[in-house]
Amino acid sequence: MRSLSLLACLLVVTPFTIASDAQKNFDLKPFKIDLTGEIPRLRSLVNNTRLPDKALDPDAGQEKGIELDILRELQSDWLKNFDWKVQQTELNNFSHFTALIEGQSVHFVHQKSEDPNAIPLILLHGWPGSFHEFLPVINPLTESSTSASGKTVSYNVVVPSLPGFVFSSAPPANWTVDDTARIFNTLMTDVLGYSTYAVHGTDWGSVVAYSLYSSFNTTVRAAHFVFLPFLPPSAEDIAANNITLSDIQKVTEHRVIEFNAIGNGYLIEQRTKPNDIGLALYDNPVGQLAWIAGKIKLWSDPRAGTSPSVLDNTAILTSVSLYCLTDSFLSSVWIYAQNADALKTVYTKAPTDAPLLFSQYEYNVGLWPEEYVAKVGNLVSYNVHDFGGHFPGLDNPPALIDDLRDIGLYFEA
Ligand SMILES: *[C@@H]1O[C@H](CO)[C@@H](O)[C@H](O)[C@H]1NC(C)=O
Ligand SMILES: *[C@@H]1O[C@H](CO)[C@@H](O)[C@H](O)[C@H]1NC(C)=O
Ligand SMILES: *[C@@H]1O[C@H](CO)[C@@H](O)[C@H](O)[C@H]1NC(C)=O
Ligand SMILES: *[C@@H]1O[C@H](CO)[C@@H](O)[C@H](O)[C@H]1NC(C)=O
Ligand SMILES: *[C@@H]1O[C@H](CO)[C@@H](O)[C@H](O)[C@H]1NC(C)=O
Repeated sequence: MRSLSLLACLLVVTPFTIASDAQKNFDLKPFKIDLTGEIPRLRSLVNNTRLPDKALDPDAGQEKGIELDILRELQSDWLKNFDWKVQQTELNNFSHFTALIEGQSVHFVHQKSEDPNAIPLILLHGWPGSFHEFLPVINPLTESSTSASGKTVSYNVVVPSLPGFVFSSAPPANWTVDDTARIFNTLMTDVLGYSTYAVHGTDWGSVVAYSLYSSFNTTVRAAHFVFLPFLPPSAEDIAANNITLSDIQKVTEHRVIEFNAIGNGYLIEQRTKPNDIGLALYDNPVGQLAWIAGKIKLWSDPRAGTSPSVLDNTAILTSVSLYCLTDSFLSSVWIYAQNADALKTVYTKAPTDAPLLFSQYEYNVGLWPEEYVAKVGNLVSYNVHDFGGHFPGLDNPPALIDDLRDIGLYFEA
């Protein structure tokens, strides 16, 4: 293995060679977001969408789906307070690129550290997310930080859009998360010239990250997860294994029970009839807002939008605008149909000695006690956070930054 990676080093002659080869072989080029031309039409659609005057059941809370008042407020914010140009300028403050890999146009942010020893790190989002959910953590991670033990870490951060999401092209119907893992490994190695790197994944991004962790064990040399591609154990299962949950974990467990009872209708819909919901909402921004914002609100910390969470209405509207303005809602929901058996019921260990780190956020909708995480990889660190939910990059960015800096304590290129 050592001689193989030495060989890889020798083959990668100079950064200039990498860049020009990547330009030639993968059509690597810088990318700027410019969707302002689409805004008048979006605003007109949002403005012309009628909502009922009053809720059918004024007592129904979000357990029955997004509340009318919340949707109406978001619709109004979209028209009156939300300025796409401001958001677009912030998004373009990062370095975006596209590359052509196995016929797929892959969009990604690549933000480099000034530290020559920075660890390459790929951050993988899920549904209904996008690269946008990681923006608060990117620049801090590029900066050098020294841990309590005295080790200094920094990262070269890569944040791709999953195939079919926002600026990455929609893949063929037979595409799976393992195909995504393969092209992302190509992105990190052959396109960007990193011989080893670390991965982080949430939601569908965790399924891709776990595929990378399992299948590319010479290049993926550390992984951090906040979600896993293994069905969370039931409360009975946890009890039968004599595992005692902390008070924070009990809150999460309650959310998992609720998710399984009344929260997973969308999942079955998207897995079995992606065209029904995908086409129904294809050109319906307020419809996409209702479908997506309902999930974002339900899966986040109830304190979302208050410090340290930056998951406010502007963040939700930016996220939904990205789906609407790129016409990618339909191809995004297809990921469920393309990977119907992605969540495994049998816990198996990945064939790798690379360290695995896991963080449990209190209000996430999946709970994996430490004993279960240890079954699937080389677990070296298990954290529990009492703030944040399913989108920690927005819902508790300082905690996610700390979690990801911990990778540096274990990563060995
Ligand atoms: C929405 O439509 C109404 C009625 O056509 C119009 O008066 C108003 O200016 C529009 N508002 C926005 C923000 O486009
Ligand atoms: C733009 O990025 C730089 C670092 O690359 C950062 O210092 C600055 O705060 C960012 N500005 C905005 C508006 O996000
Ligand atoms: C998947 O679909 C693509 C294009 O639609 C086709 O070229 C390819 O052979 C298919 N792959 C498999 C494994 O069926
Ligand atoms: C759990 O504890 C009970 C009582 O001590 C014991 O009989 C059982 O074997 C334990 N189960 C496991 C899976 O360790
Ligand atoms: C990678 O996986 C293979 C089996 O798939 C195994 O033989 C090898 O030891 C693993 N390498 C590392 C570095 O974990």
